Amino acid sequence: MRISHIALGGCFRAPPVEYGITEDTGGHIAYIMDAAHAQAQLSQIRGVEILTRRFSDPRLGSRYEQMHEDLGHGVRLTRIWSEDHRYLEKDALIPQLPSFTEGVISYLESLGDKRPDLIHAHFADAAEVAIAIRERLGIPFIYTAHSLAIDKREVTGQTNPSLEARIEREGRAIAEADAIIASSRDEAERQLMCYPSARQERIHRVMPGIGPCEKGCDSRRARKLLQPFLRDMDKPLILTIARPVAKKNLPALVDIYAETPGLREKANLAVIAGLRDEIGDETTESGRVHRGLVEAVDRHNLYGCVAYPKKHEPEDIASLYTLASEARGIFVNPALTEPFGLTLLEAASYGLPVVATAHGGPVDIVDLLHHGVCADPGDHKAFGGAILELIDDDQRRAEAAQAARTNSARWNWKRYALEHLRIANRLVRRPRVLRLATPEMALFSDIDNTLTGNLRASARFADWRYGQRGWLFAVATGRSLPEARFTLSRWGLPEPDLFISSVGSEIYRSSEEGLVFDSDYADHLSQGWEPDRIRELLRDCPVIVPQADIEQRRFKVSYYTLTEGARQQVCRLLSEAGLKARVILSHGNFLDILPERAGKAAAMRWVAERRTLQMAQCVAAGDSGNDSDLLESCHRSIIVRNHSAELDHLVDLPNVYRSSKPFADGVLEGVERWAGARATPRRMPQAPASEKAAPGSKLERELVDALSAVAAAPEAGAKPKTPGGAAPKAAEGPGRRDLH
Ligand code: GLC
Ligand code: MG
Repeated sequence: MRISHIALGGCFRAPPVEYGITEDTGGHIAYIMDAAHAQAQLSQIRGVEILTRRFSDPRLGSRYEQMHEDLGHGVRLTRIWSEDHRYLEKDALIPQLPSFTEGVISYLESLGDKRPDLIHAHFADAAEVAIAIRERLGIPFIYTAHSLAIDKREVTGQTNPSLEARIEREGRAIAEADAIIASSRDEAERQLMCYPSARQERIHRVMPGIGPCEKGCDSRRARKLLQPFLRDMDKPLILTIARPVAKKNLPALVDIYAETPGLREKANLAVIAGLRDEIGDETTESGRVHRGLVEAVDRHNLYGCVAYPKKHEPEDIASLYTLASEARGIFVNPALTEPFGLTLLEAASYGLPVVATAHGGPVDIVDLLHHGVCADPGDHKAFGGAILELIDDDQRRAEAAQAARTNSARWNWKRYALEHLRIANRLVRRPRVLRLATPEMALFSDIDNTLTGNLRASARFADWRYGQRGWLFAVATGRSLPEARFTLSRWGLPEPDLFISSVGSEIYRSSEEGLVFDSDYADHLSQGWEPDRIRELLRDCPVIVPQADIEQRRFKVSYYTLTEGARQQVCRLLSEAGLKARVILSHGNFLDILPERAGKAAAMRWVAERRTLQMAQCVAAGDSGNDSDLLESCHRSIIVRNHSAELDHLVDLPNVYRSSKPFADGVLEGVERWAGARATPRRMPQAPASEKAAPGSKLERELVDALSAVAAAPEAGAKPKTPGGAAPKAAEGPGRRDLH
């Protein structure tokens, strides 16, 4: 596989600051470089190239005029001229797209059989180029948005023609891309879905890698930078690093710092907000932000405890993280909304705990890394309180710092590259769906705690799957589609032929074009479904608390509960109001309300009918309450040993096999029992040459190896979360026990 990344803005290998080119590309250039380097290290990858704009600027010397540059470790940078040869900022690049595209296409044509198999377009402008390449050369492309404009419009409540044009380009990229890689769950399920052209089945959530912290870096540079501002350098340091734009909400952080009693006595604050010239240039956004910062410092009389350097060098950043980490500090991101939050990953690699905005990607990052807390920066008291608590509580801070180190090693770039390859493989070599037009058998399995729970068992399942050609493999899960994929990928589990997601309220099946949403099933469910009335009715119900917005789906209204009787109470309320719905309890704390016709069993029957599968050909597996209907109605069911008490009433039924083994081993044991299939790993039977290279268990095994090395590590900082004071949400991730 050969991969070409395309990104237009930015210099790649940026020139020193003296050149006066301050790039507004956030950390994305680093993302692309790190991704490319990690990909080039994989044995399955034969070449990685980054394609970008070539330009000639007297301030910059000749580097950017060269066509090729070797970036080392198997990555090549190739620069292509567009019509205008000057260095241009982001917006000014748009008129250059047609000429750049022509240049790229002729370059790719010149490569002959060394052409890339896949393009990865970064930002919507590069996606325009990728669309044209696909049209001319038939090469599929992955799109990564990095930061979506629609959210910016939402948050700032402002728009302008260039923002609108960007939103339009993004919409086109989202509509056209063969696959979209999103960094966080928020981006995958909320931000991207704001675009009418978005289709969930094309969206994959892949967490960017976390690089190691810069070796041998010390805090000297940072001390020199901050010393002029701070009276007592020995206090813990609250550090923030962000571009000087309004949505980063930096002046508010100064207010929060000042308003939180005791904070200024306990800790210093350093705000690293890009570079500034004249303060008070009201015509630019950065000018307004800098002015706001300085005014806030003055208003609260924070001289001596807040540092806001005018300029810094790129090398200062690593030193600042090091200093904050040494000085028992924390990193803070107070943004109004943050599409992802790359700085939170950087902070993690330096063992630095964080307090971050609860709006956008940071929630997902903190959820995976457990290196801090999220709070609403609009609520100054809560946000300031979270900062103070983490600074004050030595043990909590130490635990979060340890979690940062351990978990950032786990989410490295190699793991990113493997997950990326999994997606790429499916685009480049279309999956083997056609052969499955008439499967001999079908397995409908739950994911959490049924296929997951033990990495080695998951790997044995993957081996079995690749050896069984006649089986249709479907998952039936409470999770949304992107979350289901994310979970399968991190457990090294194979991609199924069919997804029954959101507790059997959505179906996605493989086709020649990739995964497609079953809209007939959706139509079938919509009859008599009145989610707004349900929500209204249950608004003040004291025994349940709504799950986060992102958990709410078109056909799934979800709550948390702590009381066993809650289900009956909700059922009663619904029936008194004449509302028809199913109420499903899992693990005694997830309460899902679905259309009467929905559910895992209903979805299985729907699929079986359409694939002309007899019930005798179907095997189902599960572990908890939301699997109950599936296991009850399937003629050949498997309950894994680690099942929850909600399934106790099923274990003696004649159609149920209770495995003596837990997790995926239990599924394999049951499959053997029901189908006589050999549930032991075996070699792939005489696959044609092209299939041998097809996404096979080698890739999954590498993923498992990458993950299990760290899965054995202690559960750093893992703490149950209590959303809205309700029941703890299921723990997640390899090495930890998933609950549902
Ligand atoms: C998954 C879903 C959640 C649901 C639960 C049980 O965790 O994210 O919304 O309540 O499964 O079905
Ligand atoms: Mg489960």
